[in-house]
Amino acid sequence: MAYCSRIVGTGSHLPDQIMTNAQLVEKLDTTDEWIVERTGIRERRIAREGESTSALAFQAAENALEAAELTAQDIDLVIVATTTPDNTFPSTATKVQAMLGMDHGAAFDVQAVCSGFVYALSIGDNFIRAGQAKNVLVIGAEVMTRILDWTDRATCVLFGDGAGAVVLQAQEIEEGEKLGILSTHLHSDGKLRDLLYVDGGPGTNGNVGHLRMLGREVFRHAVTNLAAVVGEALDANGYTQADIDWLVPHQANKRILDGTARKLGLNAEQVVVTVDRHANTSAASVPLALDEAVRDGRIQPGQLVLMEAMGGGLTWGAALVRW
Ligand code: ACO
Repeated sequence: MAYCSRIVGTGSHLPDQIMTNAQLVEKLDTTDEWIVERTGIRERRIAREGESTSALAFQAAENALEAAELTAQDIDLVIVATTTPDNTFPSTATKVQAMLGMDHGAAFDVQAVCSGFVYALSIGDNFIRAGQAKNVLVIGAEVMTRILDWTDRATCVLFGDGAGAVVLQAQEIEEGEKLGILSTHLHSDGKLRDLLYVDGGPGTNGNVGHLRMLGREVFRHAVTNLAAVVGEALDANGYTQADIDWLVPHQANKRILDGTARKLGLNAEQVVVTVDRHANTSAASVPLALDEAVRDGRIQPGQLVLMEAMGGGLTWGAALVRW
């Protein structure tokens, strides 16, 4: 008898404060047309003063637990994917663990920037397959707007804040049965770290720093790497592009989403898109989009769901799920 991980609940949480492109135009040399045309972004959420990554993560986790009809007492592992932790230490996951009223199990953060949720999902899945956890909370949460240089129009228009979460549950399956998370594939290439990074940190200059990006280069790698890892995920499971019901991609740029969908031969309706309203929420973007498509009834039991992401590092990965 083997174990697989089923996603038995999803949840999300967004700050209530909206910043539209029109509001950005008031303080930057940019236009709504430029932002919409190049990125598909129309507005983003901005955390209020005092609204922390852990606060967003906690709300998303509560919503996911409610959907799973479980309580924090049932959870034995909390993983938070974030690149904007509340503090350098302790981990945001341990803060969320305490907010959930847990004093059992284990909690830790995962840092893979925009690929963080796919990385965390992979880790949670492997804990379950190894029989080391039964119910795992996997959260992606970010306050990206706190690490932006608001004078750099090439980056500050692209990001937003939010959190999404899933509950993974161990389920016994027959050998060879294809259910739940079928596979995860992770990659990184540290030689490309200078394409997308933060120019600060406790190990360098002690400042929090600001996000820096060579957008065009990142775009080029995103299209190539995402196509490769998606192919790898399908091949590993004996599927083709035609078997995919839903693509839940990292929401960096509408043009990247359209390009990936075209390569996969998917209709626009099969791609879950939130980038227009959320912008790029880094590790939160995949679980935010997933929660939306589960709650509005698009994703149905038995369907094949493909998640993918690429981010700073560079890091990238994909997860294939039989819902
Ligand atoms: N408003 C108006 N003009 C702008 C803006 C803006 N907000 N930002 C840049 N421009 C200008 C530039 O100055 C440049 O002007 P110039 O030609 O006079 O020099 C021109 O627009 C073109 O700039 P590019 O950077 O070449 O524009 P591009 O078409 O590549 O679009 C963008 C930029 C949207 C950033 C795109 O490259 C992109 O989406 N890249 C991928 C980014 C990404 O996916 N990042 C997330 C990875 S996830 C993570 O880990 C955080």
